Amino acid sequence: MKKKLKVLALFDAIAPTRIDQDLTPELSTADWKTEANVLEALAALGHTTEHLAIFDNLDLLRQKLESFAPDVLFNLADQFKNNRGFDQNIVSLLEMQGVPFTGCGATGLVLCKHKGISKKILSYHRIRTPNFVVIPRGQRVARPRQLKFPLLVKPVKEEASLGIAQASFVESDEQFRDRVTFIHDRHDGDVIAEEYIAGRELYVSLLGHRRLEVFPIRELVFREVPPDEPRIATYRAKWDEEYRKRWGLENQFAEGLDPALVAHIAQTCKRIYRLLTIDGYARIDLRLTAANQVYFIEANPNPILAADEDFALSAEKAGVPYPQLINRIILNGMKTVRD
Ligand SMILES: Nc1ncnc2c1ncn2[C@@H]1O[C@H](COP(=O)(O)OP(=O)(O)O)[C@@H](O)[C@H]1O
Ligand SMILES: [Mg+2]
Repeated sequence: MKKKLKVLALFDAIAPTRIDQDLTPELSTADWKTEANVLEALAALGHTTEHLAIFDNLDLLRQKLESFAPDVLFNLADQFKNNRGFDQNIVSLLEMQGVPFTGCGATGLVLCKHKGISKKILSYHRIRTPNFVVIPRGQRVARPRQLKFPLLVKPVKEEASLGIAQASFVESDEQFRDRVTFIHDRHDGDVIAEEYIAGRELYVSLLGHRRLEVFPIRELVFREVPPDEPRIATYRAKWDEEYRKRWGLENQFAEGLDPALVAHIAQTCKRIYRLLTIDGYARIDLRLTAANQVYFIEANPNPILAADEDFALSAEKAGVPYPQLINRIILNGMKTVRD
């Protein structure tokens, strides 16, 4: 018989909460799909589960850990006080307290969040990354000459394609200046400008602590986008259903890749996972050029875990149904503390 565990599911909330707050209304909304899916899976697995959502009050977490004494914390809290930059601080606290938790540790979160630092580490280890420059807020906006157009201008630390639009694709110094200034002002943060890598957009899901498993590769296809237009997973491309329909954007399993190439991609992604000290589970975003060169774009530790998103769909395709996937993530989380 499988071991039953006490699991505390930790969520973030966008406004102050109470320790005994009834989250039923939130859990039926689209924004809380992941949380609802995970709770369902935990129930199906037979684990004793409690949940807590925190906004800015860490004392609630302290109280809950004391009263419930969970074996493991299922971490779905990726912001604090509405700030996504604080995900690593929550995890640091858990690390300090020696509470086993699911997903990535603080170092991996920090390294992956900064799109410049992660690329420096990987290029040192000869993994192909686009050439780039980071332009801190408040610094003169100048394009280094060796950086070739077209470029993609992004916030250096955002996620979910926040701040990424068609206008992020720039082909002249004027467009470059405008977009950098816009991101500096609107997102109040530093900018990364990368050489644009034309090619297929691949998403690789990995699961594991020391031993890593790579799931079947997903791809975002741009069916109705004319061949000479840039293909970018912009904010609308990810989240606007009508826009996705109009341009024929679809997430599907990558087809027609040579098995040797698939093996190479899997090996590369395992190296990336380890080099960036990722733990738990992750989705790595890549570009595959017409010459079959694999470029690293970004690593997402703790990717969206909803049952209908790329990560869970990849796992399912590999023969790991959703509740088992959640259980594997828990067992990996329990391992990390013993090391
Ligand atoms: N250097 C690049 N070359 C080509 N496309 C890119 C590049 N950087 C980003 N993109 C496109 O923009 C999307 C979002 O960029 P990404 O760095 O993954 O940001 P986010 O963290 O918001 O997902 C990518 O999925 C890809 O479609
Ligand atoms: Mg991405």
